[in-house]
Amino acid sequence: MVKAIRIHELGGPEVMKWEDVEIGEPKDGEIKVKNKAIGLNFVDIYFRKGVYKNPTIPYTPGVEAVGVVTAVGPGLTGIKVGDLVAHAGTPTGAYAEEQIVPAEKLVPVPSSIDPVIAACVMVKGRTAQYLVRKCFKVEQGHTVLIHAAAGGVGSLLCQWANFLGATVIGTVSTKDKAAQAKADGCHHVILYKEEDFIARVDEITSGKGVEVVYDSVGKDTFEGSLACLKVRGCMVTFGESSGAPDPVPLSALAAKSLFLTRPSLRGYTCTRDELLQTASEVFDNVVSGVIRFRVNRTYPLSQAAQAHADLENRRTVGSVVLVPDSC
Ligand SMILES: NC(=O)c1ccc[n+]([C@@H]2O[C@H](COP(=O)([O-])OP(=O)(O)OC[C@H]3O[C@@H](n4cnc5c(N)ncnc54)[C@H](OP(=O)(O)O)[C@@H]3O)[C@@H](O)[C@H]2O)c1
Repeated sequence: MVKAIRIHELGGPEVMKWEDVEIGEPKDGEIKVKNKAIGLNFVDIYFRKGVYKNPTIPYTPGVEAVGVVTAVGPGLTGIKVGDLVAHAGTPTGAYAEEQIVPAEKLVPVPSSIDPVIAACVMVKGRTAQYLVRKCFKVEQGHTVLIHAAAGGVGSLLCQWANFLGATVIGTVSTKDKAAQAKADGCHHVILYKEEDFIARVDEITSGKGVEVVYDSVGKDTFEGSLACLKVRGCMVTFGESSGAPDPVPLSALAAKSLFLTRPSLRGYTCTRDELLQTASEVFDNVVSGVIRFRVNRTYPLSQAAQAHADLENRRTVGSVVLVPDSC
């Protein structure tokens, strides 16, 4: 038996229970991992509330973690007990002291990287990677708008876009978050609860608008984001932390010949090679200092409900990691 967070019904953070679960032994193609650090993601909240459907209930939440291999399924080669690995994806199950994971989802973690940092690479790090390098390729001279710039993904987007030579405009809700966004390479920070971000972007860009908006906020920002784009600009709507955006008619894109995309990490990780390549690019950028994961707070895994409440209520800055109580 191992300790894990279990969800038996959809709802608020209080539905998360700290229980004993039986996980068994790895079968063909599987390995068992003793998790050392678990990345908290906004998607964990969507699943808990039923915004995204989890196929099974009860279930153990969590889509990314780092741990040590404790058992290897029959016939598997290239991986051994004691290896430090990162893993991500569905089915969920990372909010557990130990879990069984398909070997094809594992990537090795460089020994120089702290597991607490590596626990944010597979989802948040690789999301930032595909957004700035593949979905819309940020280049020198671009001006980009990044909402929730002090969030887990937002912090990385700011740093990476700055490194690629863009002028970075970030939106945040508080002065503390603004300070982090500035330190992460935002040339301009807008307090979007106090200021009209459309007017500020217009002013900053002298009426030209931005090449791309990375919008993870959704409902509260979607329409304004379209207004901030220049002609032939690209709207990347990759999350809905404030709720799903209201439907817009396609004709709303016509006046400025805009591009609109709703990407997912899964769509940018179609093959094992893509998984290894993207993870390795993120790890390399951590080692070389291009990006820094800001894990400002860790919580004991048993306190995951408190971590959820803080993330959901905009009280977190940077990335949040859960650490198994036994570590
Ligand atoms: N499509 C993909 O491939 C993909 C992959 C990973 C993550 N995502 C999405 O990226 C987003 C960021 O994920 P994350 O884990 O790094 O979370 P996060 O950005 O650290 O947390 C969400 C942030 O959104 C902002 N926000 C604005 N309105 C909000 C509201 N009504 N309620 C809660 N938060 C609000 C808050 O920042 P302020 O206080 O500064 O406003 C909050 O800190 C999420 O929407 C997630 O679903 C998408």
